[in-house]
Amino acid sequence: MDHGEIALSTREFTRIRERVYKVAGISLSDAKRTLVVSRLSKVVRTLGAKSFDDYIDYLETRGTPEDDQEFVNALTTNLTRFFREDHHFDHLIGHVRDLIARTPRMTRTGKPRLRIWSAGCSTGQEPYTIALCLLKAFPELARWDFKILATDIDSGVVAKASTGTYPVGELNGLSSERVALFEKTGDGNIRIPRAAHGLVTFKLLNLIEPWPVKGPFDAIFCRNVAIYFDKPTQGTLFDRLGQVLAPDGFLYIGHSENLQAVSNGYQLVGKTIYQPKPTAKSRTAA
Ligand SMILES: C[S@@+](CC[C@H](N)C(=O)[O-])C[C@H]1O[C@@H](n2cnc3c(N)ncnc32)[C@H](O)[C@@H]1O
Repeated sequence: MDHGEIALSTREFTRIRERVYKVAGISLSDAKRTLVVSRLSKVVRTLGAKSFDDYIDYLETRGTPEDDQEFVNALTTNLTRFFREDHHFDHLIGHVRDLIARTPRMTRTGKPRLRIWSAGCSTGQEPYTIALCLLKAFPELARWDFKILATDIDSGVVAKASTGTYPVGELNGLSSERVALFEKTGDGNIRIPRAAHGLVTFKLLNLIEPWPVKGPFDAIFCRNVAIYFDKPTQGTLFDRLGQVLAPDGFLYIGHSENLQAVSNGYQLVGKTIYQPKPTAKSRTAA
């Protein structure tokens, strides 16, 4: 154990597991015990709590919403990168090409409408990749009513994402064509160009709570988020996402995920790409 880390008993680990499951839907396996100690010891010390038991007692009785947020922030896993699982972005470009060719949905302002949701967006690389790819492929989207909603439960990553600035090392491994999509700031950072940055709205949102989200979305990215949930929580989440996904929209999930035995509402149409199953009504309309 590192200096500064606090001992975690099995009972305390169980209490932490129960709490993070209740507030965030996250199921921590036994293997996450050392992660809990390394992520939460500092939080416990800073609060002046003597033990994890003491800390959980505090959260349950006198903790503020900020304390709850800090607890959740410490236990989320935020790994992400630009152009992660890039076949999804190629597929999305094809979908948007089809939407442009067909008569797109119009907003009240008379502009064609395009809505995409990055649910569990972490530090923003996923929604910005969507914005950069689509603007490059279809410059006319700048004149559309085109919005990308990007949400996450972790307030730290949402704040970081909103800046649109990253260390240049984030571009390691990308082709020069992709690197060219970003602006250099000259101080070792890169910046998301204004046009792409302006398309994305970041919001704090817990996917297991009610959503102030109406849709319909033309595409939803919910990748590498539900892997932290148990099957019933995954089922509820994907069923609810299906309710805000357009009938001709696509759901993109993570490389190690699949909806078999999780949600009946979708059909697999590509590698980790799903579409809502046609309902009797939509079949008649077609
Ligand atoms: C591994 S990251 C995935 C980021 C991105 N989608 C990707 O695939 O690169 C998982 C994200 O899910 C978020 N998350 C976990 N539980 C959540 C919940 N209940 N509501 C919303 N976001 C959640 C975490 O905060 C984290 O940023």
